Amino acid sequence: MIVRRGGYEMSGKQLPGEISGRLKGAVCFIFLISAVVNILALTGAIYMLQIYDRALTSQSLPTLAALTLLALSLYLFQGLLDVTRAQILVRLGARLDERLSPLTHKVVIDMPRFGHSLAEARERGRDVDIVRNFLSTQGPQALFDLPFMPLYIAFIYLLHPWLGWLAIGGALLLTGLTLLTEIVTRKRSFAASRAELSRAKLAETQLKNADVIHAMGFAGRAVARYEISNAAQVKLQTGINDLTSSFASLSKVFRMILQSAVLGLGAYLTIKGELSAGAIIAASVASARALAPVDLAISQWKSLIAARRSYKRIGETLTALKTDKDTLKLPPPEHNLRVEAITITAPLTGSVLVKDMSLELKAGQALGVIGHTGSGKSTLARALTGVWPLLKGHIRLDGADLSQWQPDELGKHIGYLPQETSLLDGSIAENICRFDPTPNSEKIIIAAKAAGIHDMVVTFKNGYQTELGSEGTSLSGGQRQRIGLARALYDDPFLVVLDEPNSNLDHAGDLALTKAISSVKARGGICVVITHRPSALAACETIAIMKAGQLARLAPKDQIFQGGPGIKASHSNLQPEKALATSEA
Ligand SMILES: Nc1ncnc2c1ncn2[C@@H]1O[C@H](COP(=O)(O)OP(=O)(O)O)[C@@H](O)[C@H]1O
Ligand SMILES: [Mg+2]
Repeated sequence: MIVRRGGYEMSGKQLPGEISGRLKGAVCFIFLISAVVNILALTGAIYMLQIYDRALTSQSLPTLAALTLLALSLYLFQGLLDVTRAQILVRLGARLDERLSPLTHKVVIDMPRFGHSLAEARERGRDVDIVRNFLSTQGPQALFDLPFMPLYIAFIYLLHPWLGWLAIGGALLLTGLTLLTEIVTRKRSFAASRAELSRAKLAETQLKNADVIHAMGFAGRAVARYEISNAAQVKLQTGINDLTSSFASLSKVFRMILQSAVLGLGAYLTIKGELSAGAIIAASVASARALAPVDLAISQWKSLIAARRSYKRIGETLTALKTDKDTLKLPPPEHNLRVEAITITAPLTGSVLVKDMSLELKAGQALGVIGHTGSGKSTLARALTGVWPLLKGHIRLDGADLSQWQPDELGKHIGYLPQETSLLDGSIAENICRFDPTPNSEKIIIAAKAAGIHDMVVTFKNGYQTELGSEGTSLSGGQRQRIGLARALYDDPFLVVLDEPNSNLDHAGDLALTKAISSVKARGGICVVITHRPSALAACETIAIMKAGQLARLAPKDQIFQGGPGIKASHSNLQPEKALATSEA
């Protein structure tokens, strides 16, 4: 993974060797089949030649029958090869899809972490589909036929050089037209895909805010914004369609003119006694066939450009894949968490959100983090859990920087409850055990009990098997948060980071949370709790105060909340607001 300002740098690299190697093999094979198909496609022209010049002149029925039979079998063979070629292309698409989709998906689900919108991530996810679909159209077959144009021209040339030159002229003209199509549509189609992306982004945010839009009655305005975005997109697409269809029609007309010109010139040459009648027809048929792939290619140019862009982008996406190969499997952390002079920047924009922060926590400790909104608490949580990379400094578990761990391995030792809990499409049990394919019921129940939700879950009709729907929408905010807490506690991770875990909790939830923090400490874990509620701070012995992206104070709780000299912090004087105000002074 190439990290630039905390994001993926998509550098135009090729597909991984193994995949591109296989691809090359398949392409060579299809090219060979295409060669045979194109040689066989001369059947029609040669048949004409033979009929006129042999069967008709000799008036021999057996010759006609033999020729017809031969032509028929050659046609059938060509058809068979054509079908085979199409099937290979479709299978090639399917193979690519099977191999590449999981790899690109791995990058896609990681993109939002680096500030890319969901629409952008989805767009990348669709690349493989676009390439696969293109391979099942006539477009690639036309592209494989194009290089064989000289074969037909040579055939025509052999009939008569003048006809050959005419065909060469036509071929050059049509090739020029193809290039022109490429030049005029490339930029426009890039603009169109940008417009499509911004429309998708708009639709995405509107969908996410459906409730708000309805409740406050701005659906009309939302639709109007969509309309503007949509119109821009449609205009660009229409422009491209106009261009490609005009060019395709133009090429078709040229082709027909050329075909007739070949007939005319052939007739002239015949009158002058330089050509047989059969040769006229044969030349005309061959010239039509030579140029047919050009029409087809031009008419498919839009999807060709899209497929080409997607293919290139798949290569880029895959280079962003992190190679886990050279990271060793480290032993589970059990001693400490050290934050050493870290600076955290925002993904994509690169602005500094947290600066030069250091702290150390030992096994069995809990840290309460308080601070005004926007002071960088959630940013810290994202860095501690390895979600956001650091610009400077280190976060170490038992001395090893987080980047030394394989992400999935590190994840086993981390419990994270983000500020906005969202659950995944699946059952409660699956969500708690993080979709472990061999879930451990005992551990699920321990985690649920620690988060204080076991009693609630068993009252549901389907208990732990209750399906949550996408993002856990079938539950209340507080219920979701508590399932998120159980997921964070599952399998006793060493470091538990809770970002405002009690924002949606009632008194009972609060109590469960305090107990959960205490139990993390008791089993020798480390807990970092971002909160404003005294109840959650009760279980922490150290408090960090964040201010404008910096650690303003780090001290034992007693010092921060002391009511006066010698007075120990008690539940009643745990007042974060007061502590914040004092730290401002
Ligand atoms: N993805 C992001 N990109 C850019 N800036 C961000 C991003 N997320 C948060 N910020 C900014 O970082 C600052 C700290 O945010 P955050 O850590 O969420 O604060 P807190 O959790 O303390 O309320 C805020 O000024 C916020 O605007
Ligand atoms: Mg926050």
